[in-house]
Amino acid sequence: MAAARERFHLTVLPKASPPSRDALLEGLRQAQAAICTLTEHLDQEILSQAPRLRVIANYAVGYNNIVLEAARARGIVVTNTPDVLTETTADLTWALLLATARRVAEGDRLVREGAWQGWEPTQLLGADVEGKTLGIIGMGRIGRAVARRASGFTMTVLYCSHGVSNPSALDSQWQRLPQDEVLARSDFISLHVPLTPDTHHVIGAAELRRMRPTAFLINTSRGPVVDEAALVDALRDGRLAGAGLDVYEQEPHLHPGLLQLRQVVLLPHLGSATLRTRIQMGMVCLENIQAVLEGRHAPNRVA
Ligand code: GLV
Ligand code: GLV
Repeated sequence: MAAARERFHLTVLPKASPPSRDALLEGLRQAQAAICTLTEHLDQEILSQAPRLRVIANYAVGYNNIVLEAARARGIVVTNTPDVLTETTADLTWALLLATARRVAEGDRLVREGAWQGWEPTQLLGADVEGKTLGIIGMGRIGRAVARRASGFTMTVLYCSHGVSNPSALDSQWQRLPQDEVLARSDFISLHVPLTPDTHHVIGAAELRRMRPTAFLINTSRGPVVDEAALVDALRDGRLAGAGLDVYEQEPHLHPGLLQLRQVVLLPHLGSATLRTRIQMGMVCLENIQAVLEGRHAPNRVA
């Protein structure tokens, strides 16, 4: 914020998240550049009332909250914040995976509630992670960073991916398979696809049925990639061992069934939430804005 204030006339919207549509319209009316977060849905109607706007720097790597065609049609450049959050998000993915397998949140609740009576041989038995098979859906930057960490746990890594942007960053030990095979063979499935019309409900009832009843699903990508109602059904019926979720279909609202399932670990969309990474994301936004306003190519242009 200090760096932004130094370089630009800054208007900061009230701290509501997301801001009201009126507040957003008012804020964008005079702006030449905007930094927005994933809670702001920027559509045709909003953009048509932002006549001076030249660049939107999305403070996130995912940009499904922006209607790109509407921005393109008005000559507005859209940028995101890749790379700086890759490792941070991969760390959180592992935190969720381990917490889910080893029932960390349940254990914490037991201790806090004063219900712990002492060590027991069969208390809160979880699943082993070491030596198991990790299936990654979406082998982009974050998917690969998650896969690299798996070697420390001597895991087998299977993956599927529509395109692989940088094949040299792939480990030859990782095996690319059709999605159905990855789902059927993995002990942990971790989702790393961007949200697009093609990836909406990429994990639905049919895909959940392919997974092993002993398997866990981890999602740190976008909520609508998973059919949450189908996931609740699968967990309730014991067709899946557990799930670790950082994102939801209707954030901040959760499918009510999730709250009743002890085998689910629920986080409030914390993937990139470290101080260093959040500062870097802000600096990336400023660099992109500065580039566009000075007539240069924006380094992280997505539209
Ligand atoms: C966070 O969810 C991001 O896309 O950066
Ligand atoms: C457990 O604490 C052990 O020592 O095995």
